[in-house]
Amino acid sequence: MKFFIDTADLAQIKEANDLGILDGVTTNPSLMAKVGISGEAAVTNHYKTIAELVDGDVSAEVVSTEFNAIVEEGKKLHAIHPNIVVKVPMIKDGIKALKWFSDNGIKTNCTLVFSAGQAILAAKAGATYVSPFIGRIDDANWDGVELIAQIAEIYSVQGYETQILAASIRSSLHIVKCAEAGANVITSPLEPILGLLKHPLTDIGLAKFLEDAKKFK
Ligand code: E4P
Repeated sequence: MKFFIDTADLAQIKEANDLGILDGVTTNPSLMAKVGISGEAAVTNHYKTIAELVDGDVSAEVVSTEFNAIVEEGKKLHAIHPNIVVKVPMIKDGIKALKWFSDNGIKTNCTLVFSAGQAILAAKAGATYVSPFIGRIDDANWDGVELIAQIAEIYSVQGYETQILAASIRSSLHIVKCAEAGANVITSPLEPILGLLKHPLTDIGLAKFLEDAKKFK
C-alpha cells in the first residue's frame, strides 16, 4: 500500500518525505487555502515546489465543473510537472473529463467519492485513482472502511485497474483498517502517519534496554 500525505503544508510534506516512506501528495482547494495559497501564479508555484520535493504523484484539484473548462484547467495543471495528477470531482462532466484525460495519457484522481456506484463509474472512465472519503462517511454514521472493502471486491471481480486511494483519513487505525480492506493507497495528514509509530510497550522496552545498556558501557 502506498502512503501519500494529504496536505499543502511544505514543512509537513518534508517531514513525511524525510521518513523515506512517502509515495506522493494529495491536496485540495481547502488544504491550499489553509496554508494561505491563492491566485493562479501562487497555486502553480506551490504545486511545482511540492512536485520537485517529492518523488511521486501529486494530486492537484480542478475547480471547474464544466467539461471543456475542466479539460483546459487540467491540461494547465499537468503542464506544471510530469508528476501532477489531475484531481476531478465525481460529477457528470467530471466523468467525461476523466475519460478525456485517460484517452490523452494524463493521470487522474476522481475525488469526492462516497459510494460503490460512483467508484464503478470512475473506473469505467479510466481514472488512475479513485478517492473514497472514509472520514466524512464515518462522520455521517456510515462505515468508510466498509466502502473501501466493497470497492476492492468489485474492482477485483471486474478486473478494473483504477487504484483505490483511501482519503479523508482521521486516525492511525483508519490506515491499518484500509490496508486490511484492500486500499492501494492511503492519503493521510501527518499525525495519523506518525501515530503508527506509537506503542507504549515500545517506549517501556526501549527505556529498559537503554538503562541496561549503561551496565556494559
Ligand atoms: C484528499 O484527496 C481529500 O481531499 C481529503 O482527504 C479530504 O479530507 P477531509 O475529509 O479531512 O477534508
